[in-house]
Amino acid sequence: MPTIRPLLPGDNDDDWARVYELQCRVYPPEWHEDVPVLRQKATVGNGFCFLYQDQGELMGYCLAHPWASGQVPKLNAVVKEATAPVTTDNLFLHDLAVATPKQGIGKRLFQHLQQQQQQQQVQPNKGRIKSMSLVAVNGSHSFWTKLGFQRATPLDPECLQSYGSDAAFMVLSL
Ligand SMILES: CC(C)(COP(=O)(O)OP(=O)(O)OC[C@H]1O[C@@H](n2cnc3c(N)ncnc32)[C@H](O)[C@@H]1OP(=O)(O)O)[C@@H](O)C(=O)NCCC(=O)NCCS
Repeated sequence: MPTIRPLLPGDNDDDWARVYELQCRVYPPEWHEDVPVLRQKATVGNGFCFLYQDQGELMGYCLAHPWASGQVPKLNAVVKEATAPVTTDNLFLHDLAVATPKQGIGKRLFQHLQQQQQQQQVQPNKGRIKSMSLVAVNGSHSFWTKLGFQRATPLDPECLQSYGSDAAFMVLSL
């Protein structure tokens, strides 16, 4: 039976190697992020990063972390906890990828993220998350539109350049 479990920065190297391998399978080389960069997202995004596994096999992952609304982090750059705007009311969905598309896994991972986001709201000392943002790439705009995201203009449109020519900043108000 498939399971979704938290992906933590301290998880063993095999887990991170498999996330890296799946990332390399679904994206062209210019978008690949190194394992230390991926791990750091799980530090800043504690509680918002997950693995989808079926019989031990990695079928998908989701990496999200708090980030200032309207801003886009650089690709393959370490998101430092000290400088990350962790008090922001926006969650940046950095990456969601599946091994076998069109089987409902992407939607389930996203729904799980939404559940976590709703639970985080009721914990003490956590600001209420009011929106999610992302950069849609790889022909995924329609997928995100189905989930309620709408195209928006980032504060610095030039920051989208490293994400490719079809990149679109998208936002979901919660
Ligand atoms: C984009 C991605 C995450 C979608 O995940 P998925 O598991 O294939 O999506 P699901 O099967 O959950 O589909 C959910 C809905 O979106 C639709 N959908 C999925 N991919 C779509 C696409 N590329 N274009 C249009 N609709 C799409 C499905 O038909 C389904 O519609 P329905 O609810 O009306 O039946 C997946 O294709 C993927 O991993 N792509 C490579 C990595 C990537 O590009 N990630 C996005 C980075 S921004």
